Amino acid sequence: MHIVRTVQAMRHEHEQWTGSVGLVPTMGYLHRGHLSLVEHARAENEHVVVSIFVNPTQFGQHEDLASYPRDIEHDLQLLSKLGVDVVFLPTVDEMYPSGFTTYVTPEGPLVEQGEGAIRPGHFRGVATVVLKLFLIIQPQRVYFGQKDAQQVVVIRRMIEDLNLPITMQTLPTIREADGLAMSSRNSYLTSIERARAPVLYRALSAAMDTFDPQHPANAQDIIQAAREIVDSMPDIRLEYIEIRDYNTFLPLQTLRPPALLLIAVRIGKTRLIDNFVLHTDGRWDTGLIGDQLSHANP
Ligand code: PAF
Repeated sequence: MHIVRTVQAMRHEHEQWTGSVGLVPTMGYLHRGHLSLVEHARAENEHVVVSIFVNPTQFGQHEDLASYPRDIEHDLQLLSKLGVDVVFLPTVDEMYPSGFTTYVTPEGPLVEQGEGAIRPGHFRGVATVVLKLFLIIQPQRVYFGQKDAQQVVVIRRMIEDLNLPITMQTLPTIREADGLAMSSRNSYLTSIERARAPVLYRALSAAMDTFDPQHPANAQDIIQAAREIVDSMPDIRLEYIEIRDYNTFLPLQTLRPPALLLIAVRIGKTRLIDNFVLHTDGRWDTGLIGDQLSHANP
């Protein structure tokens, strides 16, 4: 496994390759959700690149850039066991050299609501770094987790809007045994907060259980079922529970597929997000429990 720190060295690696390249973009502090993306990339491509870069442009001024968890040695150990060819590990200066001026700015309802409303500028930072990674690494396939549902929609749109010759694979959220979606930010939770954190999964499950495909309900009734679960827990601040169209991200008055059921809460200082997907065939994608997966426990 090669560790590559510069754009030039990455281009050099690429020149040696024939066959498809799969890219898994990450900010590191890898968990089983990331490893599941890497496993899929490994199974589907001749060459696999994982990028690890804590991207400053997607963090707001008062967000957790400085404290974002990092453990590169452990990440590299995990990736080397999965047969990754290259870990792209650039510095901030390599990605944003002095004088950097050009950003990708998604616009419209897709980025003005949900995470975009709470984290202004977040998707500009995400789209900019992701497009840069695509251009530097030149993958045919890219792998993202469903947990960041709005990010998935934004990047899917960017690929389409800019005619990028890339196939995007979105893979299910990987969960702890009690339903908590795996996230690098779970490491911020105290033990009491951690015990409360499955509330997101329980709230989404309560909302899902009210859904009857024969009698699609008013979105507000479904949201109310989820809200009651959150309200029953102490010290959890609900930011939003929403039902949105899976493709456009526009709010739905009635839950009908394809749809996203989305939730964001604050537990202490930690922000957590989660979602379930309602597919057109009426199937719900609620994610997978990590213990049932094959790879080593990180
Ligand atoms: O999902 C993430 O970890 C980040 O938003 C990404 C896609 C790696 C861009 O920095």
